[in-house]
Amino acid sequence: MTEKFDAVDIIRTKRDRGELSVDQINWVIDAYTRGVVAEEQMSALAMAIFLNGMNPDEISQWTTAMINSGETMDFSSLSKPTTDKHSTGGVGDKITLPLAPLVASYGVAVPQLSGRGLGHTGGTLDKLEAIPGWRANLSNEEILAQLESVGAVICAAGSGLAPADKKLYALRDITSTVESIPLISSSIMSKKIAEGTDSLILDVKVGSGAFMKDLQQARQLASTMVAIGKAAGTNTVALLTDMSVPLGRKIGNALEVEESVEVLAGGGPADVVELTVELAREMLLATGIEVDPRENLENGRAMDSWKAMIRAQDGDPDAPLPTSKHTETIYADEDGVVSELDALKVGYASWKLGAGRARKEDPVQAGAGVTIHAHIGEAVKAGDPLLTLHTDDEPRFEKAKESLEGAYAISTVAPARESVILDRIS
Ligand code: URA
Repeated sequence: MTEKFDAVDIIRTKRDRGELSVDQINWVIDAYTRGVVAEEQMSALAMAIFLNGMNPDEISQWTTAMINSGETMDFSSLSKPTTDKHSTGGVGDKITLPLAPLVASYGVAVPQLSGRGLGHTGGTLDKLEAIPGWRANLSNEEILAQLESVGAVICAAGSGLAPADKKLYALRDITSTVESIPLISSSIMSKKIAEGTDSLILDVKVGSGAFMKDLQQARQLASTMVAIGKAAGTNTVALLTDMSVPLGRKIGNALEVEESVEVLAGGGPADVVELTVELAREMLLATGIEVDPRENLENGRAMDSWKAMIRAQDGDPDAPLPTSKHTETIYADEDGVVSELDALKVGYASWKLGAGRARKEDPVQAGAGVTIHAHIGEAVKAGDPLLTLHTDDEPRFEKAKESLEGAYAISTVAPARESVILDRIS
């Protein structure tokens, strides 16, 4: 087959800060998926995009080309509207777990096609796999049937959705080209648009534990994704939320399931409840339902949806969750207020304890992670527990404690933290 373009010309155009044409973008994504554009050529192009950016038309076209590289889902046969949430990822971010059944308890379909964790942020599927019997892989027919009956599905995204992104994301991971707004936004939005949801709420994290370390960068990422979503006809809203400290008090797979169940039972930490409720409010509003979602957390309906969702995927929601073989607790060495609790460092510690993986094929420990006894702004006395570390392999404690150096501070002044929600972009 004679190829329409030469990858070298396309790389040169972007290297010299030129604009890529629609045809060039369509060709390069398709040819890369077919293996005609070599990995080293796509690496060079990704780096040129990382350094020189893409304009809104290029980003939109790049996203469309990635959607067209694979199949798209079709939920139009369902009797309910569909709504979906995507988080850019953070430490202790278990929100999908209580959120999907909460929104489904109002009669809306919530397809959450999720992934596994790599690096310091945990994967939703790894968390749910801590539940005895639970199964992540569903066929398209099973997904549709469960959306109709239960309303909520959290399962593995099939390999057919945006395969170009799958290849490109793996390449970006090993070429230091992940943190680029055009590449992140097109990567996330191609998968979400291919999923075919009617509306999408984005949770864009800001702070040390997130891709975007400051509010200005996060706003730009959020606006770029909202524009891509709207251009594709998906009703899209973004919340910017704080990821400078971990979300909630439990980080790790089974530990995060445990905390999610506390929220579904009407309790749980205030920040996890606030974010779950506000994202649910946005998702429901996007489908025309105006309610206070706290109601279904308090009256047990969200818990009923959770149990039905877990059972539909062969899990036992009433079975005890796995715990780690060993624990070690870190204590406060002075009186005061926790004035710093760095999300990234706590995330690294949890990862080193075995909750996350360094390579795709590594297993994760269900019981590993960190529990936070004294969160940001809370008073402690010398000798009070601050953090408990959980792992099955004792030697991991040393590595985790190294990661925690400088992670927390105790002082006399409490930092102000009123809300996890920093801004809304629509
Ligand atoms: N998540 C994605 O799916 N893609 C990115 O590029 C970054 C985060």
